[in-house]
Amino acid sequence: MHSKKNISTDNTTMLEKSILNHYREQFGSDPEIIVRAPGRINLIGEHTDYNGGLVLPAAIDKAIWLAMGKRSDNLLKFSAYDLQDEFQGHVITLKKSEKGWPNYLLGVISELQKDGVEIEGVNVAFGGDIPIGAGLSSSAALESGMLSGLNQLFDLELKKMDIVKLAQRGENRFVGMNCGIMDMFASVMGRAESVVRIDCRSLEYEHFPFHTPDYTIVLCDSGVKHALVDSEYNTRRRECEEGVHLLQAVLPGIQTLRDVPLAALLENQARLPPVVFQRCKYVVEEIARVFAACDALKNNDLKELGDLMNQTSEGLRHGYEVTCAETDFLVDKATEQAAVIGARQVGGGFGGCTLNLVKASESNRFIENMQAEYQQRFGRSLVCHVVKLADGVEIMAA
Ligand code: GLA
Repeated sequence: MHSKKNISTDNTTMLEKSILNHYREQFGSDPEIIVRAPGRINLIGEHTDYNGGLVLPAAIDKAIWLAMGKRSDNLLKFSAYDLQDEFQGHVITLKKSEKGWPNYLLGVISELQKDGVEIEGVNVAFGGDIPIGAGLSSSAALESGMLSGLNQLFDLELKKMDIVKLAQRGENRFVGMNCGIMDMFASVMGRAESVVRIDCRSLEYEHFPFHTPDYTIVLCDSGVKHALVDSEYNTRRRECEEGVHLLQAVLPGIQTLRDVPLAALLENQARLPPVVFQRCKYVVEEIARVFAACDALKNNDLKELGDLMNQTSEGLRHGYEVTCAETDFLVDKATEQAAVIGARQVGGGFGGCTLNLVKASESNRFIENMQAEYQQRFGRSLVCHVVKLADGVEIMAA
């Protein structure tokens, strides 16, 4: 169960206050709880989660805040502060909304209902500072935050792992995005100044300290929100499954690409259509890179970690083909600079942010350089974020 904190402390953020006030304006009373649900980055292990592989994400200090209060009339009233939009639904006749955003909240209620858990209605006002469609998992934050809040309000006695799994089910079944488990895992299980290594086959996880005073994590947001991200993502996933299916003829014990050694994949290249082989090779190599990255972290060898991130970047671009001209440009310009030890696109792909490991003393100059280059090449401004690694979902009591 999550610990409760008092929301009226000195460190109450502006954002939290805005959401609290928004709740009061919308619903005419105080919320019972406020939930902080963070976004995430991923150091390495991209597109490996749904292949039973490893990932190395972290929750960040950008979050969605949800102010919540119970209702007893079976109504669901949601208010999106940033979008200035409202939704009203009913728990008995719960169905997908054409507006899009309510589905992240409705999806987790729908999954709770499938598990026989009844909710008697809820008010939710939410908003935050995770850029949407930027590869930082604002949707998983919303799902994880909603579930954690419902858990607290209705004493559902869900464990953190239940919340992670339910959030993923909501996104897969209700929203229709066939995502893996990484994003919600990081949002719920994150820990300040740490990354978490998740084995997406066994769901075992371990936190690794990531306290790096000499290096800063800088995100460069390309501002590209690719419209095809869901369908292309689902296609990649199908290509991996096809690869596994075809390889099972000669490797009968395998369940996912996690079980396929690189040598066995190379030996059986001729069995796979070229594109499927290319996708599988990227994934198998990426899973191996996560193991190597963990060794590098244990040895405090950030240069090696940066090299591995750069290899991932190449793989995402040429093997898995999930990058775009803008993020390729940002990666190229970043790696030209001596202050950068690793740079790559983060998240599902086709736009969003690049993640850069930058010498701390040079990070301001790095940001200025990148903004100037981007403006010159694409004629629009580049938003950069310096992020810190944060704790996972937290409940504050009103
Ligand atoms: C998206 C998905 C995750 C993961 C990443 C790629 O963020 O939601 O499950 O597959 O893409 O690593």
